[in-house]
Amino acid sequence: MDKNLLVLAGTGEVSRRYAEGVAESLGLEIYNVENKVFPDGESYIRIPELPDNNILYIQNLDPPQDKRLWEALLALDKLRSQGYNVILVTPYLAYSRQDKEFLKGEAVSVALLLRLLRSLGAEEFYTIEIHKMDSLRHFAGRAISLDPYPYMAGVLADKLPHPSDVLVLSPDLGAIDRARRFADAFGSEFDYIVKRRDRVTGEVYMEPKEIPARGRSIIIVDDIISTGGTMAKAARMLLEQGATDVYAVAAHGLLVGGAVDKLRNSGVKRIFVGDTLPPKEGVDQVELYPVVAREFEWVNQHGAS
Ligand code: R5P
Repeated sequence: MDKNLLVLAGTGEVSRRYAEGVAESLGLEIYNVENKVFPDGESYIRIPELPDNNILYIQNLDPPQDKRLWEALLALDKLRSQGYNVILVTPYLAYSRQDKEFLKGEAVSVALLLRLLRSLGAEEFYTIEIHKMDSLRHFAGRAISLDPYPYMAGVLADKLPHPSDVLVLSPDLGAIDRARRFADAFGSEFDYIVKRRDRVTGEVYMEPKEIPARGRSIIIVDDIISTGGTMAKAARMLLEQGATDVYAVAAHGLLVGGAVDKLRNSGVKRIFVGDTLPPKEGVDQVELYPVVAREFEWVNQHGAS
């Protein structure tokens, strides 16, 4: 793909915010997908006239996910039929947690989603911290999950306790790499908690494991906080084990229902999430568009139009 890019902002507040941040930091022109919703709830999409062929199309999949996804498919199909080359950036990739058939007969949502995006013309795909890296294989093209944790660790350095007093934990062994990436940049030790989820009820169980929590500040790092159940259970257990305070950090803050209250009631001192989803009261958001912009810096170096 040629190096001259322009930014096309997809639908929703998060898409627009990321598109503006990326366009401004790279000095690229920005255009908006025009959209409206008809009185019966159906979506209308129009692609404005674009002066260049190479498009950095930023379309987030924040709730309502299905609507956003449909808008993305309409836009991608139109862009392809008009002969544009499209790099798709989706900061929050909905459906990423349904990445296998946990129970017989379950649809593997992320596989279909990535196949659809590719087949409708996205040539490259970028997201922030996909739930499982392995899911990217379903996109038959260049597909990248950007790592937000070193950047978040830098931003949070003056808001959190001193690294030497801190233990960074992942809420399960499978996610320990997230704790490691954050801890390496923050300068702390890291470890993991043993978590198990009942696939039918969704209930989370934390199993006892010797964690040197006593007298320490704990930062729990996860990819997503949804209902807050995982973080709240972990926080309670760690405070019972003598941790002095517990902070929750995640790339994506869905924070559905009473998640924020649930976290507060469990003793979590502060909640920090990326800004890949709409903001919630009582939660600190870290702007992550620089993590996306950095990935496309070569555009500046090689001369954008
Ligand atoms: C699951 O494996 C994810 O990494 C998160 O731990 C999970 O989505 C968090 O969900 P909740 O906040 O509902 O416990």
